[in-house]
Amino acid sequence: MTTDAALDTPSRQSPATLRVRRGPALRGTLVPPGDKSISHRAFLLATLATGTTEIRAALESGDCGHSVAAAAALGCRIWREDGATYVDSPGLRGLHEPAAAIDCGRSGTTMRLLCGLLAGRPFPTFLIADPQLAQRPMGRVLAPLAAMDAQFLARSGGTRAPIAFAGSGLHGHRHVLRVASAQVKSALLLAGLDAVGPTEVVEPGPARDHTERMLLAQGAPLTSGVGAEGRWHRITRLTEPLSPLRLTVPADPSSAAFPLVAACLVPGSHVWLRNVGLNPTRAGIVRVLQRMGARITLHAERMTGGEPVADLEIEAGPLHGTEVAGEEVVTLIDELPILAVAAACAIGQTTVRDAAELRVKETDRIACTAEQLQAMGADITATPDGWQIGGGTLRGAAVHSHGDHRLAMALTVAGLVASGLTRVDDAACAADSYPGFVGDLRALGALIDDLETPAC
Ligand code: S3P
Repeated sequence: MTTDAALDTPSRQSPATLRVRRGPALRGTLVPPGDKSISHRAFLLATLATGTTEIRAALESGDCGHSVAAAAALGCRIWREDGATYVDSPGLRGLHEPAAAIDCGRSGTTMRLLCGLLAGRPFPTFLIADPQLAQRPMGRVLAPLAAMDAQFLARSGGTRAPIAFAGSGLHGHRHVLRVASAQVKSALLLAGLDAVGPTEVVEPGPARDHTERMLLAQGAPLTSGVGAEGRWHRITRLTEPLSPLRLTVPADPSSAAFPLVAACLVPGSHVWLRNVGLNPTRAGIVRVLQRMGARITLHAERMTGGEPVADLEIEAGPLHGTEVAGEEVVTLIDELPILAVAAACAIGQTTVRDAAELRVKETDRIACTAEQLQAMGADITATPDGWQIGGGTLRGAAVHSHGDHRLAMALTVAGLVASGLTRVDDAACAADSYPGFVGDLRALGALIDDLETPAC
C-alpha cells in the first residue's frame, strides 16, 4: 500500500518546446536536484531492509517515480512527511507478488536493478517498459542472471523488455563483466543476496559505486577488493535482516553539469552550485572541465548520505580542447553530450573515444548529439565510439531532443551561447532527471521562453 502523494512525481511538466537566446552573464546560487542514481537505489534498496528507511532530498522525477511505484507494488508502505520520504518494508523475504506488471517507464535503472532484485524471489514478476526503454539492451543483465539459474522470458531472444521472471532459486556465480556498467553490477549484487553460494562481480572500469556504499551501510554481506582482473565484489546470501537507513541524497553531478557548463561558457558568469555529489566514480565532468581550463573551485568538501559532496564555484573563462578516453569515460558517461557542447565552444580539438556505450542510452547519443550540434554549426564528427570536435562558435537553429532528457538540456545550454535564436523541440523530457531545469536556469538569468506548455 502507498499514499498517492509519494507516487505523484513530476513527469514531463516542463515546456515541450523552448526558445533560447544568448543572454546576460549567469549569476546566483543553485542546489541542483537530488542524485537520480542514488534516489533509485534508496527506494529500491529500502525494500531489502526490514523496517522504515528515511530518505531526504531524493529526486522526484518521472524516472524515480517508477522505482517508488515498484517498491509499493512489492508490498512496501511509502509516505511523505516533513519533507522526507519513508519506505516501510517487510524486508527482502517479506516482499510479495505484485498485483500487476511493474511499469519501468523509460527508466533503465529501475528495470535493470529490478531484474537483479526480482529474479530470485519465489513469485513471478512482469516488467514492462515504454517503447524507448523496450529498445534498450537487457541481455547484458539477463544473460548473467541466467548463469545464476534465473528463469525468465523476454522479447528478442531474451534481450529486451517486456520481461517475465518465473521466480526461481538462484546459484552464486563469478561474473567478469566486459562493459563497465553500474546497472549490471548492481543487478548481479542484488541477485547475489538471494543466491545459494557466493556471487562475484569483476568490473572492467570504475562504474558508479552507490549500490556498494548503500548495501554496506545496510549491513549486507559484501566485500570488495582489487585483483589481477580488476576491481571485484563478493556478496553472499542474506541470512540476517538488513538495517533501514536514514539518508540525505546529494545533488546530482549529472544534473549539475548543465548549469556548470553554462556558467563556464556564458561570458561574465559567476555561479555557485551547492551540495553537489563528487563521488570519484561520478566526478569526471569536473576533472575534465578543469583540465580544459575551466575556473571551478571546490568548497566545503564533506560527506552527505555516505557520499562525498562539495559546493562548486564557477566563473566563466576560455576552455581548451582535450582528450577523453579509457577508464575516465565511465566517470562522466552521462555528461558527454553536455561536454560535447563545451568542446564545440572551446579553443582547439577535442577527442572522445571508448564511449560506444553512448549508442545504447536513451538515444544513440553519439549520432544524435553530433547531428543536432552540426545543425548549430559545430565542427563535430561522430566516430564509432565518440566524437572529433573542433572548437569554435555555435549559431542558433531548430534542434530536437529525440525524447532524450540529457540531449534536451545540452541543446538548451548550447542555445545560451549560440548567436541568434535556438528552438529546442521535445524538451519536456528534461523532467525525467531534472524537473526544475528551465526554472533553475532562468533564476540564474538565462533567457528561455516556453513556446508550448503541454496539458499533462
Ligand atoms: C546508472 C548507470 C549508468 C548511467 C545511467 C545510470 C545507474 O548506466 O549511464 O544513467 O544509476 O546505475 P550503465 O550502468 O548502463 O553504465
